[in-house]
Amino acid sequence: LNADRCYSALDFRYAAMCNTPKDIFDFIDGGAGNEDAIHANSKSYQELKLIPYIRDNVESLDLNTSVIGLSYSAPFGVAPLGLCGIIHREAELILARAAAKYNVPFITSAASNKSIAEIANACGVAPWFQLYIPKIESCLALLLNKAEVSDCPVLVVTVDASVSGRRLRDLRNGFSFPYGFTLRHILDAIRYPRWAYNQIINEKLKFPNFEGMLDGYKSVEFNEIMTLQAGGDLNWDVINRIREKWKKKLVLKGVLSETDAVKARKMGIDAVILSNHGGRQLNNAPAPLSVLPRFLRAGLDKKFLMLDSGIRSGEDILVGLSQGASFTFLGRAFLYALMAGGDEAVDRLFQILIKELSVGMKLIGCDSPEALNLNNVYI
Ligand SMILES: Cc1cc2nc3c(=O)[nH]c(=O)nc-3n(C[C@H](O)[C@H](O)[C@H](O)COP(=O)(O)O)c2cc1C
Repeated sequence: LNADRCYSALDFRYAAMCNTPKDIFDFIDGGAGNEDAIHANSKSYQELKLIPYIRDNVESLDLNTSVIGLSYSAPFGVAPLGLCGIIHREAELILARAAAKYNVPFITSAASNKSIAEIANACGVAPWFQLYIPKIESCLALLLNKAEVSDCPVLVVTVDASVSGRRLRDLRNGFSFPYGFTLRHILDAIRYPRWAYNQIINEKLKFPNFEGMLDGYKSVEFNEIMTLQAGGDLNWDVINRIREKWKKKLVLKGVLSETDAVKARKMGIDAVILSNHGGRQLNNAPAPLSVLPRFLRAGLDKKFLMLDSGIRSGEDILVGLSQGASFTFLGRAFLYALMAGGDEAVDRLFQILIKELSVGMKLIGCDSPEALNLNNVYI
């Protein structure tokens, strides 16, 4: 399937599968354990239905949405995705440029293969910046400093990855990076020449945000990044310290408990992203969409709640917003497009999502994402 014949994120998934070595596709597509959380995510969207209302033709449809005081042209953004250089060496730049073009937020992962500054310069808009709690205390201050220098408007601290989830596809495939030169890798390079060419003509994968942070390493590569980027103590004390240091907007990502969310709000956190990391961490985690009503019942304001995990279409976005989120993020959908056909496919996916949103909103009789509420969905 060619990328220019794709009409949905799931079409791109299929095209991506055909275009990428199996272990790379599985690394992106797979999740933890039996992948129950991945299935729960997609099921949660299938189970909620959008209710169409009879209204005058929705002429003045407006997708503009604001979130934590920032204004965007649509109610979705690009979730933080580390290590995307293995599917395309320009991955972050392509995604960030497309996000800037469509005026939606791009969250760069600290473990990205392009630096925050490079991304900000390439698209003229500073990305939101996501980090884990690094094992080495001094890395935290250095990362915050880099985000500040690049003028990132929002810091996202991911709280669901104190260790990496057990991803069985990766274990079964013997997935490791950097790529070796076994017979399998050579055969993969022959079968997927576009992917291989893109990997070979470019320099080795780097993690520039961490450059210079580890004594004894001039540049930071795959093995070191695993040590560097996470593994620090994840507790309220460290979150409080980050809150004190970071003066701009601060978001916690990976929250699934309303009690944690209430505590975060009291601590001065600006918003949370309900997420199970796309089912990549805890096999038995609930779907974020399913727990959203508990957050509302706990008295949290819709504006405080964002959502990701399992979103594959404009209609999914509408479901998430109706169920009580103020904003949504997609992860894999953008990577599928990238694997399927690089920058043109990513641009096409943005157009598809926007089209799906506008058609969906017209069909349910709604003229603004901010007007969606529980009356728009039923189980
Ligand atoms: C390949 C890959 C890399 C990811 N890297 C990060 C990361 O560095 N930091 C982070 O907070 N989340 C990371 N995530 C999780 C995403 O930010 C997001 O929560 C998830 O992809 C949403 O689910 P979806 O893929 O079903 O849309 C990653 C996800 C994937 C698929």
